[in-house]
Amino acid sequence: MMEGADMDDLREKFVSLIAAATDAAALEELRVQAVGKKGEISLRMRELGKMGPEERQVMGPKLNALKDEITSALAAKKAALEDAALDARLQAEWLDVTLPARDRRAGTIHPVSQVWEEATAIFADMGFAVAEGPQIDSDWYNFDALNIPGHHPARAEMDTFYMARAAGDNRPPHVLRTHTSPVQIRAMEAQGAPIRIIAPGRVYRADYDQTHTPMFHQVEGLAIDRDISMANLKWVLEEFFSAFFGTAVKTRFRASHFPFTEPSAEVDIQCSWEGGTVKVGEGDAWLEVLGSGMVHPKVLQAGGIDPDQWQGFAFGMGIDRIAMLKYGIPDLRAFFESDLRWLRHYGFSALQVPTIRGG
Ligand code: DAH
Repeated sequence: MMEGADMDDLREKFVSLIAAATDAAALEELRVQAVGKKGEISLRMRELGKMGPEERQVMGPKLNALKDEITSALAAKKAALEDAALDARLQAEWLDVTLPARDRRAGTIHPVSQVWEEATAIFADMGFAVAEGPQIDSDWYNFDALNIPGHHPARAEMDTFYMARAAGDNRPPHVLRTHTSPVQIRAMEAQGAPIRIIAPGRVYRADYDQTHTPMFHQVEGLAIDRDISMANLKWVLEEFFSAFFGTAVKTRFRASHFPFTEPSAEVDIQCSWEGGTVKVGEGDAWLEVLGSGMVHPKVLQAGGIDPDQWQGFAFGMGIDRIAMLKYGIPDLRAFFESDLRWLRHYGFSALQVPTIRGG
């Protein structure tokens, strides 16, 4: 038979277990344990049937009251747990919309791209259109058409990358172009004379040190007309350097030799090395920046232009080289290492307009 004290124990046990429950699953377990089909309180209620009527009259209401009490304690605890869970979620998912946005790094324009654009803009102002050619070219375009025959030492000097060829492939040998000069030939073939183009692009040579990388950039220039002379070349280049460096830049033409020009000249620009950094347009030192000359008659012929009717100048300049000079970048290799710190330091904002003078 069931005693009142037994009921009190039961109440206390469940009340404290419910109070200690920390989640819905634990609470559900307690519900089953107390008032589920085989729960402790349910079993007690089943025993009512075996009681005499008097005892049942006393115990019935008490058990019902206990059942109600435990059921509502369960419900209250369930509500409290849900409230706490919601509070925790509100805390965790709280968003301060007044906080400043997190800094998102914008990419930068690579100095080579910047200088490529600057050079293109300056030559465009002087009436030069942009021409293009393939980076993998036949050795005819890269060498022969430019008056560099097979035995010529210039072929060896250029540390040329030859494309691998399968046995039985009898197409002419192809190379990674060693300079932008083959674009001269392609432009002549495509347009005939007169002609006024620049050809910026990637070139390749097997060479690697502080001032050489296996891939680098050149901009070729070509102007063909009836009476173009070295004087025009000199004016165009001086105009270019002054616009590019934003200051009057003296040039020095030194007699030189290239197979594709006659006469040929290497061009230096005026600079100073004061304080260990190079400054263009002042001082009395000279820096070589390009090769140039009057286009060789054989080259005109290779491009399908009659050398008795037409003549002109050509030049080839290192884009990376003039980028290093203009922006004070000491090591060429870093240009192509994709180090984000370097790119952020030397790169340009997309909104930054090229710094060129005049135009
Ligand atoms: N192609 C030469 C080089 O890569 C540069 C050059 C020199 C280009 C003289 C020219 C030129 O058009 O006339 O070193």
